[in-house]
Amino acid sequence: MSARWRENDRDIRQLSPMKLEQLDAVMAIETASHVRPWTRGNFTDALASGYLADVLFDAHDSLVGYCVAAAGAGEMHLLNLSVAPAHRQRGHASFMMRELISRSRAKRLEQLWLEVRVSNQGARRLYRELGFDEVGLRPAYYPAPAGKAKARGEDAVLMRMALEGMV
Ligand SMILES: CC(C)(COP(=O)(O)OP(=O)(O)OC[C@H]1O[C@@H](n2cnc3c(N)ncnc32)[C@H](O)[C@@H]1OP(=O)(O)O)[C@@H](O)C(=O)NCCC(=O)NCCS
Repeated sequence: MSARWRENDRDIRQLSPMKLEQLDAVMAIETASHVRPWTRGNFTDALASGYLADVLFDAHDSLVGYCVAAAGAGEMHLLNLSVAPAHRQRGHASFMMRELISRSRAKRLEQLWLEVRVSNQGARRLYRELGFDEVGLRPAYYPAPAGKAKARGEDAVLMRMALEGMV
């Protein structure tokens, strides 16, 4: 894929608030993306709670990803970031995260937090490149996959971006 195509694609990407009628498309991406996917109820609860929830459309008007985050106590907490497998490595996640960072700054929030699986090297790299620091470990944060209830869960790396003082 050429850099030029990537640049054009970036120009016409569009983020918009997630709607209930988009949850079929969202769930298809969610189940293809996570060992322990969110349920439809998790998404409806997030929408009902007024969390920041956006879907991303690409240049061809396909719903290719989404991001869910919650603001509170002066902080933003990323809860879900997913891109459809066929649309990865085109800068979509990076675009959504840059939007989230800039909106968090606009709200004068001081920090942006997230957890990521220790094994998820791609996502950890994405977040490090955006300026997040790995500041801690949450032991067995992610439950073992269904059917392996006795197995130990996976640790989460806690990542933080300081927003204070940034314009
Ligand atoms: C992690 C995820 C959201 C990345 O989405 P994406 O749109 O492919 O990411 P981007 O194209 O914006 O990647 C930006 C940068 O992140 C890093 N990165 C992303 N995916 C990577 C991978 N699989 N391997 C290595 N680096 C990766 C790279 O540095 C990349 O920059 P580059 O393309 O110039 O090398 C996507 O793979 C996904 O949905 N995975 C399953 C769900 C998940 O893990 N979500 C995050 C949970 S915290």
